[in-house]
Amino acid sequence: MKGTESLRDVGRPVSPIDEGRLRLLYELGCAFAERTELDELVPLVVAKCRAVLRAHGAAILLLDPKTDELYFPYVAQERPSVAAELLRTRFPAHLGVAGSVLQSGRSSRVDDASTAPQFYGQVDRRTNSHTGPMLTVPLSTRQGRIGVIQVVNQRGGRRFTDEDLAFLETLAASVSVAIENARLYAHMQASQAHLREQVASLRHDLARHDRFGNIIGSSKPMRELVRLIERAAASPIAVLLEGETGTGKELVARGIHEAGPRAAAPFVAINCGALTATLLESELFGHRRGAFTGAVQDRRGHFEAAAGGTILLDEVGEMPLAMQVKLLRVLQEREIVPVGETRPRKVDVRVLSATNRDLEAEVKCGNFRADLFYRLAGFPIRLPALREHREDIPALATAILTRVGARLGRGPIGIEPTALDLLVGFDWPGNVRELENEIERAVALLGDGARVRREHLSDKLQAGAGATPGTPAAPPPVSRRALRASRSDTPPTVSDGRPVPLREARAAFEERYIEDVLRAHGGNVSRTAATLGLSRAMLHKRLRVTRGRG
Ligand SMILES: Nc1ncnc2c1ncn2[C@@H]1O[C@H](COP(=O)(O)OP(=O)(O)O)[C@@H](O)[C@H]1O
Ligand SMILES: [Mg+2]
Repeated sequence: MKGTESLRDVGRPVSPIDEGRLRLLYELGCAFAERTELDELVPLVVAKCRAVLRAHGAAILLLDPKTDELYFPYVAQERPSVAAELLRTRFPAHLGVAGSVLQSGRSSRVDDASTAPQFYGQVDRRTNSHTGPMLTVPLSTRQGRIGVIQVVNQRGGRRFTDEDLAFLETLAASVSVAIENARLYAHMQASQAHLREQVASLRHDLARHDRFGNIIGSSKPMRELVRLIERAAASPIAVLLEGETGTGKELVARGIHEAGPRAAAPFVAINCGALTATLLESELFGHRRGAFTGAVQDRRGHFEAAAGGTILLDEVGEMPLAMQVKLLRVLQEREIVPVGETRPRKVDVRVLSATNRDLEAEVKCGNFRADLFYRLAGFPIRLPALREHREDIPALATAILTRVGARLGRGPIGIEPTALDLLVGFDWPGNVRELENEIERAVALLGDGARVRREHLSDKLQAGAGATPGTPAAPPPVSRRALRASRSDTPPTVSDGRPVPLREARAAFEERYIEDVLRAHGGNVSRTAATLGLSRAMLHKRLRVTRGRG
């Protein structure tokens, strides 16, 4: 061994004990080089240390900074019962010889510990032993002192020598470095794990953002909506999207399709309110040539066009009852019969539906089949009206401005804070769709200007701000006025001073409300229907009923 040679060179005799010590230091160096686990290495070092110093016991005591106590994580003892007891022992870090060495940083060699002034007898009492000669050396790292290494009672009642102490100090230096490295490593691993978790969570957010990037809004209702979309996308359940017109029902339906396993297959949306019963049937299920006048050739329906993908039945509440029966059968049997054919064809399509009506109420008044409702509404999702998440209006406005700007091939279009305030303050009965229209209009008025200002916004917004009194009332103020009116003159809830059934009160209110909105729109049925969230046909029907009554 090289070290032994050099010691011989200086002419000192090498005792067998010295060789054991040198071998221990050498082995320790090798073990570090191999990066052996601390929990394997340190017990070995402690055991060997006890052997080469021919002691009854050797131990490492570490400081627990949280409780300011010393404890014995590594113990080598002649008597296993003493070792077991020590492993359970903790004591205040300022007590005993160990405590004073830890505090002072100076090694200690005593011939009879039990008579030393700092001696802490509790440990001996617990272990039922007697500590005589003892060596205690601090374990120091760059972060400070972390504990001590202690060796007690040399065999044959001998005392420890200064040479023994010097050896233990050398050993302690190596052990300290090993413990420090292990701790740094553990700390690094913990922070790496933490970073990995953070990256994963950010990735997840990013993926979610990518997936629903075109659905704008970070308000609480919108975050909740995105959470529901994710859940709906992950399951094949029938989703019913409920919300006022322009709240993004179609956008959300597309989001559910695109985030789910059918994303690669087609997404087809059909407006059930826009077609007659016959046309709707042929649109949905297709028809054979000659099935009806005008059916000049075979035509594939939307259900087949959406094969493997998703179909959105938009405005499903407008679907005629006769058609509802047929749709129910398709959902139950998972097959369609094209108009003019007799043989059914299998279809594999996920069905989503959307409505701006209270479908449950429609079921109660017999306009919508209950069995179909339950088939469609397995997972109802309610979309918030824009006035329920005004905090998203600035982000929506910016996105719309960017889109409109890009379409017109011009640079980014800004918006003045005062104009934005008007947008945020408005009630938006037509929701995001209406906001889009308003911004498109403003950009058209803007010409080459770079920023949308108050004066580019329409009268209804200016009126909302109270800027121009006497402007023809826009739908929201009117609706409030209508409410007030119905409360002031003949209250519909009470007739002859006696309460009437809710159905009658509701009918009376609806009647007056519809008339009011119609008046506010100068008798324009389309705009009134849009404001009320009804189809034109439905509005006409209601007007016929109420006017027929009156
Ligand atoms: N949260 C939203 N983020 C971005 N655009 C939206 C949002 N909600 C609605 N829109 C837009 O508003 C318009 C109306 O949405 P749409 O899905 O047709 O509404 P609905 O079917 O409920 O009447 C569409 O141009 C849509 O892209
Ligand atoms: Mg729609």
